[in-house]
Amino acid sequence: MKFPYIKCKDVSFSYPGKKENSIFKCNFSIKRPGFWIVVGKNGSGKSTLLKLINGIIKPKNGVVDTNANIGMVFQNPDHQILMPNCRSELLININQNISQNEIDKKIGYVLDQVGMTGFEKRPVHTLSGGQKQRLTIACALISNRNFILLDEPTALLDQTSQLKVLQTIKNLTSDNKKPLTALWITHRYEELTYADAVAELKNGFLSSWQEPSKFQYN
Ligand SMILES: Nc1ncnc2c1ncn2[C@@H]1O[C@H](COP(=O)(O)OP(=O)(O)OP(=O)(O)O)[C@@H](O)[C@H]1O
Ligand SMILES: [Mg+2]
Repeated sequence: MKFPYIKCKDVSFSYPGKKENSIFKCNFSIKRPGFWIVVGKNGSGKSTLLKLINGIIKPKNGVVDTNANIGMVFQNPDHQILMPNCRSELLININQNISQNEIDKKIGYVLDQVGMTGFEKRPVHTLSGGQKQRLTIACALISNRNFILLDEPTALLDQTSQLKVLQTIKNLTSDNKKPLTALWITHRYEELTYADAVAELKNGFLSSWQEPSKFQYN
């Protein structure tokens, strides 16, 4: 089976007019499915790293190489969701010409995958923050993304919703048949226990991947 990959080689980046690098000589690769977490404090370069990976900004030095079909989940789902209800939001993310029957099946399937069975008709404004985040994950799934980048997806959520979103990604990334690859960025160290591998970003420097149980917070 061929998995989507992302490789960063010696990637550095500084914002225009800024002397110091926001990302410095970043080297890492993700070549197999799983729940990959990068942890770092405010301003450590987390969002910048994701922007480099998905091509919103270009490295000053180094190379980002990927064959992945990348989907994004941002901190605030209200900045991402466009349509008034779950079904219509999912519909605009289906970029395939398929029959009504197949559309209905797909919508049911992805809502099921994020633990939102029966939510088709629900107006978006009646969803909790966590349900909105899970809807954005369902949108990534229905548009056939195989690699999801999540930029502090739980920052605005209460603990119950936070755990549900974490568990949703855990389930999707450990699925036996078609495991997803997820790169989750966070400043919350308590989320690391869900990861398959953890790296820390500090002042633009990224550590190597470590097992969550062996991760040293310093
Ligand atoms: N558009 C920009 N122009 C100039 N500097 C920027 C810009 N965006 C970010 N920076 C700077 O780059 C550094 C890294 O910022 P970044 O947003 O990547 O950090 P972050 O880890 O995502 O922080 P947070 O936890 O607050 O989201 C910071 O010093 C920030 O001030
Ligand atoms: Mg950020």
